[in-house]
Amino acid sequence: MKNTIVVGAQWGDEGKGKLVDVLAEQSDLVVRFNGGGNAGHTVMHAGETYKFHYMPSGMLHNKLCILGTGVVINPKDLLEEIDSFTSSGHTPRLKISARAHVIFPHHQLIDAKEGGKIGTTGRGIGPAYSQKASRINLRILDIIADDAQSRIKDALRDVKDILIYEEIFTEDEYQKYCNSVSVEYAAYGKKFKPFITDTEDLVRIAGKVEETVLFEGAQGTLLDLNYGTYPFVTSSSTLAAAAFVGGGAIPGVPIRILGITKAYTTRVGEGPFPTELSGDAAINLREAGHEYGATTGRPRRVGHLDLFALRYAIRISGIQELAMTKIDTLALVDGIKVCTAYKIAGKEIDYFPADAPTLAQVEPVYTDVPAIAELTKAEWETLKGKSKDDLPESISSYIKFIEDFVEIPITILSHGPERNETIVF
Ligand code: GDP
Ligand code: IMO
Ligand code: MG
Repeated sequence: MKNTIVVGAQWGDEGKGKLVDVLAEQSDLVVRFNGGGNAGHTVMHAGETYKFHYMPSGMLHNKLCILGTGVVINPKDLLEEIDSFTSSGHTPRLKISARAHVIFPHHQLIDAKEGGKIGTTGRGIGPAYSQKASRINLRILDIIADDAQSRIKDALRDVKDILIYEEIFTEDEYQKYCNSVSVEYAAYGKKFKPFITDTEDLVRIAGKVEETVLFEGAQGTLLDLNYGTYPFVTSSSTLAAAAFVGGGAIPGVPIRILGITKAYTTRVGEGPFPTELSGDAAINLREAGHEYGATTGRPRRVGHLDLFALRYAIRISGIQELAMTKIDTLALVDGIKVCTAYKIAGKEIDYFPADAPTLAQVEPVYTDVPAIAELTKAEWETLKGKSKDDLPESISSYIKFIEDFVEIPITILSHGPERNETIVF
């Protein structure tokens, strides 16, 4: 069986967590490969709601779950997540890459000061990745080392000038911070020891014994650091390719790349959003879909499905098939449209603008969509195992329209947040 990479095909929150939970049942290993606590993946099963920020969404199936090298980890937050999962009666089978980088409180303080114009999640993601790239950050292997305290103090010396210059700390506060954080993080390191290993080797061995690996992306393609709507992006790569770098996926091993898209579009934080709705239409869609961020609780910006942006995301990430979520939500609103082209100054363009101010100026060209049929749970149940042609005409023609435009198939349709509210074609 092929390995699978799950990635968001929009600006995040597409329902990756739900789909990973569904697919984890047939997988042996589930691997997160990018991002950190900025992710919020909601999984609903048997009436319980789980919000995973770090732990892969395959946790509920008791599969071996991995946080790969590409992830940045706030040990305090991860330990809290592990504790809360354990106290709800589960036993996490978790392994963490020794090479994953650590998020420190000073990263969050810098993020709080500088992240405003992007509307970051405030989890310290940008500063942690930028200090990783500057080679002045610490990895998990440092905080579990016997000399963790002195490694932390040494590393803090490297960022002292930044912290004082940025007015994050006064000299006095900096000294106190060094003393307290080195003790605190070395203590986390002790708790982490049993979880730490060479996770890439686990992925490699899984391949040898023909186990199936599911790679779980965080965020979405349009938030990718290189190909997203820069600078309104996150600080890691969110593309399927990142599973190779950050998760240990092995080039050459057969892989299925599944992109997740909502039946409409949402975005949290700042940045261009060509099909964004406003006024009552936005309120109606937001409330119908309970569109509030799983990490920050912020109301999500909502809009029509942007097929022009989706097709770009599919091409850039190499997505081979789509899972579409929240068709049930789309059935609750009127005036549905999909964007099929962008115009600038009245002229259609044939590229997805790399420049954020240009993207902010595009005029979307829309096609009206007939109202989506609203089905009861019992009606959905009768459609399990059926083909796309057996769906109500409004839904099958919506799917067909999207497939024709983006030139890949929709192979999974999600019609509710619960695991069993899923149709696989
Ligand atoms: P992720 O970050 O991609 O994992 O997505 P989030 O969990 O942040 O946001 C998706 C939200 O939609 C969550 O609250 C899910 O429970 C919910 N959800 C996922 N699929 C569906 C669906 O098909 N219908 C409905 N109504 N909700 C869904
Ligand atoms: P999941 O995995 C939606 C957005 C933030 C902000 C930008 C940069 O749940 O889909 P960051 O804190 O990463 O530096 O913020 O990216 N963002 C997300 N939006 N879903 C996410 O994750 C996101 N992670 C980051 O809102 O605009
Ligand atoms: Mg989310």
